[in-house]
Amino acid sequence: MKLGVPKERKIKENRVALTPDVVKQLVAKGYEVQVEKGAGESAFFLDDAYTAAGAVLVDRVDTIFSGSDVIMGVNPPDAANIAKMKKGAILVSFMYALSNVELVNACVTAGITAFSVDAIPRISRAQKMDALSSQANLAGYKSVILGADHLGKIFPMLMTAAGTIKPSKVLIFGAGVAGLQAIATAKRLGAVVEVSDIRPETKEQVESLGGKFIEVKADASVKMEGGYVKGVSDEFLQKQKELVGKHVAEADLVITTALIPGRKAPVLVTEAMVKTMKNGSVIVDMAVEQGGNCELSEYNKTVVKYGVTIVGEPNLPALLPFNASDLYAKNISTFLLHLSDKDGFKFEMEEEITKGSCIVKDGIALIK
Ligand code: NAI
Repeated sequence: MKLGVPKERKIKENRVALTPDVVKQLVAKGYEVQVEKGAGESAFFLDDAYTAAGAVLVDRVDTIFSGSDVIMGVNPPDAANIAKMKKGAILVSFMYALSNVELVNACVTAGITAFSVDAIPRISRAQKMDALSSQANLAGYKSVILGADHLGKIFPMLMTAAGTIKPSKVLIFGAGVAGLQAIATAKRLGAVVEVSDIRPETKEQVESLGGKFIEVKADASVKMEGGYVKGVSDEFLQKQKELVGKHVAEADLVITTALIPGRKAPVLVTEAMVKTMKNGSVIVDMAVEQGGNCELSEYNKTVVKYGVTIVGEPNLPALLPFNASDLYAKNISTFLLHLSDKDGFKFEMEEEITKGSCIVKDGIALIK
């Protein structure tokens, strides 16, 4: 089994799919690994470390794509590189296939099998493979650090001879994996943390981390499925905005993480709400890639509107490439070992993890 690790080509991507430590483990299990030269450089994993781990370094990206049985990526490759893959070869990466029709078509045309790591079911057995969680966890941490950096204030209360500094107020929308890590990080730095989520079970989780939960009672329009919010009505969102509005106006830093899988992110902070915020306050919109939770955030930009700095950084895990690659490599090598051994693939399509994550099988699309 020959694995190929291309250098990521997405702009501002610093992560790499396999780290030297994980390569070493896979080589010990009998896999061959070829890594494109410089693939790990921006995550601080140098070529020498890959060679020492038993990988073969390859100059040409074409060789990686045409000469591998499995391509291990963070982001999906472009159609031209997918077209170079061997018929029947396997691609493993984030794909968000439901909103990426062109990618699915490219995999179909190439006659390959594609597994989307974001579609791995979130069942206990698959926790070690859960790349969505490993990356969201780090992103939650980084959102606080980025926000703190843009704020002209410190987080903790400080009593000095010259007077007392009040602690900063951080308001977090969404207490999923990223939001919970953001709460923990902001608390550790000494901020007062308030949180809004519409899944009732998050109240206890927020409070156990020292956050104050802003209760917005879910109504019949809040649809849940498998632990996710599947949809809410505009009326509910309006009620939520009214209840949370005063907290937004008082916050120094607002971090928004609210997502509805497969849908545009809900708008939770409107232009009118931004206008009520204090001069110098900051919003970090972690949902910017899905349209944004703040009406004024701009994709891939940091802008100042009505005296509020709004950070629209789409790829926070890429700003912590060392840890993010380390965890991602462990996630996808566990997934690979679930699908194969050194002699070949052994997966059965009826098995839950395989079935959930396979989006194209030997050139046939499994999602519509
Ligand atoms: P996500 O990234 O899809 O959404 C983030 C958060 O936004 C969620 O907590 C959601 O309730 C919240 N949200 C949606 N609309 C909102 C609104 N209008 N206002 C405020 N908040 C809003 O969620 P994530 O972090 O991917 O995890 C969600 C679910 O997955 C949870 O039930 C979690 O327990 C579960 N999970 C299960 C795992 C497992 O292995 N069993 C692992 C990780 C997560």
